[in-house]
Amino acid sequence: MPLIRTATELDFSPTELPRTPRPKRILLADPRDYDVHYAINPHMVDEDGELQVVDRELAREQWQALHRACSELDVELMVMPPLAQHPDLVFCANPALPLPPGLEGPEAAVLPSQMASSERADEVHHMLQFLRSRGVTCAPALESAAPLEGTGDGLWHPGRRLLWAGVGPRSDERAWAELAERYDLPIILLNLADPDFYHLDTCLALLDEEHCLWFPEAFDAAGRGLVELAFPKRLVAPEDEARRRLACNLLCPDGHTVLLPSNCPESARGLRSWNYALRELDTSEFLKGGGSLFCMKLQF
Ligand code: ARG
Repeated sequence: MPLIRTATELDFSPTELPRTPRPKRILLADPRDYDVHYAINPHMVDEDGELQVVDRELAREQWQALHRACSELDVELMVMPPLAQHPDLVFCANPALPLPPGLEGPEAAVLPSQMASSERADEVHHMLQFLRSRGVTCAPALESAAPLEGTGDGLWHPGRRLLWAGVGPRSDERAWAELAERYDLPIILLNLADPDFYHLDTCLALLDEEHCLWFPEAFDAAGRGLVELAFPKRLVAPEDEARRRLACNLLCPDGHTVLLPSNCPESARGLRSWNYALRELDTSEFLKGGGSLFCMKLQF
């Protein structure tokens, strides 16, 4: 299947593609070791270039609120144990990419990532080991050594076998090309054009087949054209909400409920006007690591 890079190349409607069931499992990672010990994205330093200082007790409380919110959803919830000296493990969207049923056998599976930074490399093995122990199928790693950071950059089109893929500091086109070929999968490439939006999940939230929340300036013209073509209902997050509070890093686990980073009033207003059941959660301490609700889970 060829990679799709422009709106002209998107010459089919996603609704023509095979359906995929809603993923019913959510994985969270124990935040015991969460902290900011190094800077691998611009959010991890303050205005003076110093590493962000995390209130670790508050971080734990914020994670617990996410855990509570997830436990009220109609999903199977799993918590992966911590890994010493891996402060970013809590962002468990990155070490693996969920694969819908039908790609690696009849059940949903996961593909191991190739992390872009050495600091996070060992998270992959830790996560796969945990998931295997829970009976989850793990696909063979890609042969390409090019980076691919899981569902930080790979977003499944809600309900369809179609992948939206960020190309930027964390995921490389060569990795997406291998994936497209291995599974005969259509993959839409979106170039990330702004260092603050270093993962696709920081600037695009796919809510359902029609709706998305996004920050268009994080993309180039081709990328904007693709999103505009595929999603008739688009809400633009204001710049401060998108850049500083990662409004687009929301979690919409069922096409109806939205867990939104708090202090994003304009995004919240827009989502409410679309009748999403909104829940706002404070993730101030995780924003210091460069992530929020979407990247603190793996749904598969
Ligand atoms: N500090 C982590 C990193 O830079 C944050 C990852 C956030 N994940 C995401 N999918 N946006 O890798």
